[in-house]
Amino acid sequence: MNEHTNVTRRGFLLASAASALTLVGCAAGSKNQSSVTADATATKTTTSVEDLPWWKKTIVYEAYPKSFMSSKGAETGDIAGVTSRLDYLKELGVGAIWLTPVFVSPMADNGYDVADYYNIDPSFGTMEDMDELMARAADRGIKIVLDMVVNHTSNKNAWFVESSSSKNNSKADWYIWRDPAKDGGAPNNWRGIFGGSAWTYVEARGQYYLHTFLPEQPDLNWDNPEVRKEVANVFNFWRNKGAGGFRIDAVTYIKKPDGLPDGKAESDGLAPIHDATANTKGILDYLHELRNNTVAGTDCFMVGEANGVDASELPDWVGENGVFDMVFEFSHMDLDGHDASWIDAHDWELVALKDALSATQANTATDGWCPTFFENHDQPRCVVNFFPEGSNTDLAAKCMATVQLGLRGTPFVYEGQELGFSNVAWPSIDYYNDPSSHNQYESALAKGHTQEEALACVHRYSRDNARTPMQWDASSNAGFTTAPKTWLPVHDDYRNQNAAGESEQENSVLNYFRAMAKLRGSNDVLLAGSYEEVAHGHKQIYAYVRELNGKKVLVMGNFTNEEAPLGELASQVSDATTVLMDTYDDKPAATSALRPLEARVCELRP
Ligand code: GLC
Repeated sequence: MNEHTNVTRRGFLLASAASALTLVGCAAGSKNQSSVTADATATKTTTSVEDLPWWKKTIVYEAYPKSFMSSKGAETGDIAGVTSRLDYLKELGVGAIWLTPVFVSPMADNGYDVADYYNIDPSFGTMEDMDELMARAADRGIKIVLDMVVNHTSNKNAWFVESSSSKNNSKADWYIWRDPAKDGGAPNNWRGIFGGSAWTYVEARGQYYLHTFLPEQPDLNWDNPEVRKEVANVFNFWRNKGAGGFRIDAVTYIKKPDGLPDGKAESDGLAPIHDATANTKGILDYLHELRNNTVAGTDCFMVGEANGVDASELPDWVGENGVFDMVFEFSHMDLDGHDASWIDAHDWELVALKDALSATQANTATDGWCPTFFENHDQPRCVVNFFPEGSNTDLAAKCMATVQLGLRGTPFVYEGQELGFSNVAWPSIDYYNDPSSHNQYESALAKGHTQEEALACVHRYSRDNARTPMQWDASSNAGFTTAPKTWLPVHDDYRNQNAAGESEQENSVLNYFRAMAKLRGSNDVLLAGSYEEVAHGHKQIYAYVRELNGKKVLVMGNFTNEEAPLGELASQVSDATTVLMDTYDDKPAATSALRPLEARVCELRP
């Protein structure tokens, strides 16, 4: 058994024994990690719902347009497909849709390699389709959030084509160019996030350019004021078109450390670029400038993808004087360390999830706000990621919905999460489209693992788990397209798990999600109340109390497949406590033990 650090935090003394629950990562060997960063579990916010801006009161739905809905019978989805499903999203309580990138792109990384920021990729439709989506969404009170990929562009972007053509052109300094090292090799030892050297040589310049991700994704040089000005122009173009918010991709990498020093080499002779460049000092100056030149003073929000920002740094990022309205802080998404290497992922315990979530809450308690999220287009499905192997996926999905929509923050729900989608497990690596799956597979083989072990990791962590086509109904291709095939295979389970079928079933994940969304949207305590974690030492249940002006709501979720007696939580509830929501539909008493994966929301008496 592993050991945890004893931590005293406001009002709680944590148990020193390891949790009884161990959730398993991919690796055979297990290395435990306890991530205790919160210095307080209680948040103090007391505000009224009226004081909250629109984006704090709504649910944001992330749509991956390539996999959401094809309006024209293609193998891939499109913008008009999103428009055709607006009523479905409205019924889910969604007030904003985050579209992953739909700009012109050669699709080396499914749109995260932008060749032209001012136009729509033909595979997704036209500018008219985008205008139509914004207009029809606005009719329903829904805003469109665009995904701005500005750490890098595509290598097919005209800016890069010009920049790479010579050392003397108007865009010569728009990217990060360096002379070769003395031996003619890469200028330093950084390894890109998708594997291999982070540098690629270009004959015409006799120089290397830097790419944090694929060679097809050259990094922009944010130290160049012209670049920053053009990035702001892109934001303003889309804001003037009616965008309600922006998600800023990979934003923690935009500033590189002076001198681009070598990192500590690992067994392949390379050092992770993330460790060298994430959240470099001075980054906030560039982002303040961007904010001031774009959304400042408007109700258009900015949410940053902030991998590498520690919860303790949140006040600088999202506090009153922060650069963003929200950031995705990832500590709870990497409890098993798979970010660094899928094959080396390790086991984790429920206490680590509690610590990570409470740290984010504590650091935004009085000043700041964060999204709540357990899935996105880069992550495996949450029913696999956060629950023991073999868990009932419907129950797990409902448990996660309860915990997520109960938390303080804006829920970001990823397509299919509301239907309880699970991972896929395709028979060979050739089925996978995601470049990082191929890199992780190769890297596992290079470390001496068998093909079977390498594939097992891809099954567990591939980003394609989240990218299979949406399942709309039980017809062929799940109603996603009338084309004979789809760009990624539809999940085998689609006849049982689809939006039309789940709408009809009273106890489906979808109907539970809708009810939980309704509860959140109509409950001031859940919208605006403070957060205090309770029963931190409970080995099976994650629980917290939300409070606003003396009114309290308790949310509890059993993350195990065994019955969980309430233990110290029993003192919070009595037979008279009102149960607002429960994932089992037999109306249990507030005081009853939580059954496997059961979650419950109770209104506590003042
Ligand atoms: C972000 C995106 C991911 C993409 C990467 C490079 O992490 O979420 O999908 O591959 O940036 O743009």
